[in-house]
Amino acid sequence: MRRRRFLAWSAGALAASGAGAVAYGFGVEPSWLSVTRQDVLMSNLPPALDGLRVAFLADIHYRPDDDAALLDAVVATVRAENPDIVALGGDYILGKDPAGLEPMLKKLSGLTAKHGVYAVIGNHDGWTLPGDTIAKAFARHGIECLINQHTILNLKGEAFAVAGTDFVWGGHPDLGRTFRGLRQRVPTLALVHEPDYFDHVVQARDSVLQLSGHSHGGQCRVPVIGYRPRAVRWGRKYVYGPFTQRKAGLWVTRGLGTTGIRVRFACRPELALLTLRPR
Ligand SMILES: [Fe+2]
Repeated sequence: MRRRRFLAWSAGALAASGAGAVAYGFGVEPSWLSVTRQDVLMSNLPPALDGLRVAFLADIHYRPDDDAALLDAVVATVRAENPDIVALGGDYILGKDPAGLEPMLKKLSGLTAKHGVYAVIGNHDGWTLPGDTIAKAFARHGIECLINQHTILNLKGEAFAVAGTDFVWGGHPDLGRTFRGLRQRVPTLALVHEPDYFDHVVQARDSVLQLSGHSHGGQCRVPVIGYRPRAVRWGRKYVYGPFTQRKAGLWVTRGLGTTGIRVRFACRPELALLTLRPR
């Protein structure tokens, strides 16, 4: 009798915790911003630029009715941090619906950085609108969208490049064009939406620091062991965090938004505040 009561109690507790986890995953976590602060190594970074700060966010997949407060929190945090550079890693659009782009850009126009705000486009953006249409929309809000090109900044008398490719999954990334004329010794931040393209990037330029999103860090993970049931094309090998190959580095963010059902579990929306250190 005692055993039967124990089993009934256990089943009830399990059902309650399961329901709680579901309610949390749908109702709480997708709106609960986390801020990650991390030092990241970068090849060729001169001593004068040791400590350069980059705010990095990706995968907004903006839903105006649900994500306004989250994006407001991101913008307010970035403004308070006053980083040197803001980098946007693509996938602004939800599904293939461009309706969220303009309201999102109004919010992103509040982002500030000492040396500019730079963006690349992701697969959802490229599947929905032509790249130059997106780039022009970003430019109207003071954000430079880099599609197979780079720009060179002069920071404390040192050259520092910010590069961006076209989206990879169905797009036309061209690393030859992206890095054309850029001397190897210039420290280069490469924005590439899909992280698994890192294996190609390091072939073209071995001393780059690539920033990527796309994987959503798995979006839903099993706590403690970190297992993720779903993996996305071009985001299977490098899912979250720092990676190294030769002299090159990669940093992958969990991103902010969601695709499909608006649910996250053990994988909170992330704003990354990266401090660059010489490798
Ligand atoms: Fe993506």
